[in-house]
Amino acid sequence: MTDDRLIVALDFPTMAEAKDLVLELGDTVSYYKVGMELFYSAGPETVLWLKENNKKVFLDLKLHDIPNTVAGGLCSLMSLGADMMNVHTQGGYTMMNTAMDRLRKAAEEAGRHCPDVIGVTILTSIGEDDWSGLGETETISDKVIRLARLSQSAGLSGVVASPVEAENIRRSCGKDFMIVTPGIRPAGSAKDDQSRIATPSAALHNGATHLVIGRPIRSAADPKGAALKIINEMQS
Ligand code: C5P
Repeated sequence: MTDDRLIVALDFPTMAEAKDLVLELGDTVSYYKVGMELFYSAGPETVLWLKENNKKVFLDLKLHDIPNTVAGGLCSLMSLGADMMNVHTQGGYTMMNTAMDRLRKAAEEAGRHCPDVIGVTILTSIGEDDWSGLGETETISDKVIRLARLSQSAGLSGVVASPVEAENIRRSCGKDFMIVTPGIRPAGSAKDDQSRIATPSAALHNGATHLVIGRPIRSAADPKGAALKIINEMQS
């Protein structure tokens, strides 16, 4: 049993550890997230190996720079074949729109499928204390909706957001917008450094299309059992 809506985060410092988990999870998990820790240490091989092993890949490098630099970065990463990549929505409309235009053209010229690009709204680790330190005047949830709408108008496929905000995003951005939610914690598991969290079933109920889950599976005594339990909850 597998479920494409579950994305397991490979937050490891080495490729060997990442491979061990992928092989241990086997056919149970079809979609993986490669983030900064693994990509900065092991590089493109991480994505290439997962694709060779018929896995889907979300390359979570959260690009945030001026439009020309982000567009160039995404175009360079496209050749690795990831299914989904992301940028920070706070780079603004012009950054996101320029990046999408350039990526679509580059994909067309290369004869490749253009990967989905989603926008990071407000990190799921940000709680009220961190938020007030940023000097923002809007509430977190109003800001997330503003950033989700901005990403949609700039041509992104969806956003990364907390499961707590998914319901409002779905209402504002319609049914085809992807909502990828980290901050997932099965009932009874540790919160770690996450703040705005929900259980797998609550996140899906709120409108999430994909759940990114790391420690609740990676740090479990039986990772495959933990993944199967989560998939069961997702499908029930
Ligand atoms: O271990 P845990 O389930 O908390 O992992 C969540 C993953 O999702 C981490 O790899 C983290 O980098 C990522 N993420 C996040 N919040 C975001 C975007 C990505 O937690 N807004």
